[in-house]
Amino acid sequence: MEAHYYRLFDPLLSEHDAKAMVDLCERYQRYGLYSQEASQSEIGQGLAQRHDAVLNFIKPSGRAGSDEPLSSLATRTNYFRESYVYGDDILIAGIEPFLRHPGFVDAARAVHGRPVVVPAIVYANILLPGNELAVHTDVPEFRGANRKKFPQWLMVAMHHSGLFDAWRMPIVTGVSWFSACAGGEFVFYPDGAGGKRVALEARRNTAILLDTDSVFHGVDRVGNNAPPAPLRLGMTLVCDGPRRWSLREGAETVAVYDWDELRFSISWKAYCFADDAERRAWQEHSDDLALDTILDGLVEDLRRRGRINGTRPAPTDLALTIIDEYIKFPAA
Ligand SMILES: [Fe+2]
Repeated sequence: MEAHYYRLFDPLLSEHDAKAMVDLCERYQRYGLYSQEASQSEIGQGLAQRHDAVLNFIKPSGRAGSDEPLSSLATRTNYFRESYVYGDDILIAGIEPFLRHPGFVDAARAVHGRPVVVPAIVYANILLPGNELAVHTDVPEFRGANRKKFPQWLMVAMHHSGLFDAWRMPIVTGVSWFSACAGGEFVFYPDGAGGKRVALEARRNTAILLDTDSVFHGVDRVGNNAPPAPLRLGMTLVCDGPRRWSLREGAETVAVYDWDELRFSISWKAYCFADDAERRAWQEHSDDLALDTILDGLVEDLRRRGRINGTRPAPTDLALTIIDEYIKFPAA
């Protein structure tokens, strides 16, 4: 069984710096819903970007596994997200010490054994009581193939297939928590999809760093038995003052929350390069994958595995076969 390296941080920051993260979160003030758009790509048209995770979440043995209607399950997996750093852009002052956290950089080197660690993005996720995140692996990236160009489920399947490792951009993710909500444990499968399920309390000022592109993970329900939050597309979560928040639809307040009812996490993602030459190949696009190469490679492998016989399936059927064959979720 495949064991994945991860590192825990407890505490992650000094007490002063941890409080500064909460202040920074409030100063950002307004958070939008992170929505899942349907794919516009020619392959798998009409499938959700994370069709793999959706299919797993709603199947009877998935984590949802309840009598709730699909609409309420969809609401449960909505949450708020804003970026604090994106590439070279610092989007809010005060995030710099977190961006350059030496413990994260050191652990990142250990995960992939690659010395050149380049932080790429820092973002905040806020979940309301009743929210949870379905088990998934994150969207990986390859030279020439990323979530901006191709559907997210395709990137995920490419990584799980192992066929495109030579083009993969190894990424690490640090996830840290700064509120004290009930429930909302970070669940993950460090020994692979067939291994044990570990639930980590999302305790204030602690963190985990791991390869979330390879390790299945999710978030247990916030507030334990809380009903689904009254979320609709277009809503925002707004900080009204110290530790007080409201859910808004336009100017109207739909619900109010105290800080410790919310699950607030900050994620840090970094690229890990073997050397500067590899970093240059990525920046200069000198060794990029093309969609035809990706699909031909997958179809050839699916023929070897006996999943495709005869003519190549139509795009949507091919997409569903790819998801089914390569993305093997944990059983429970
Ligand atoms: Fe994730």
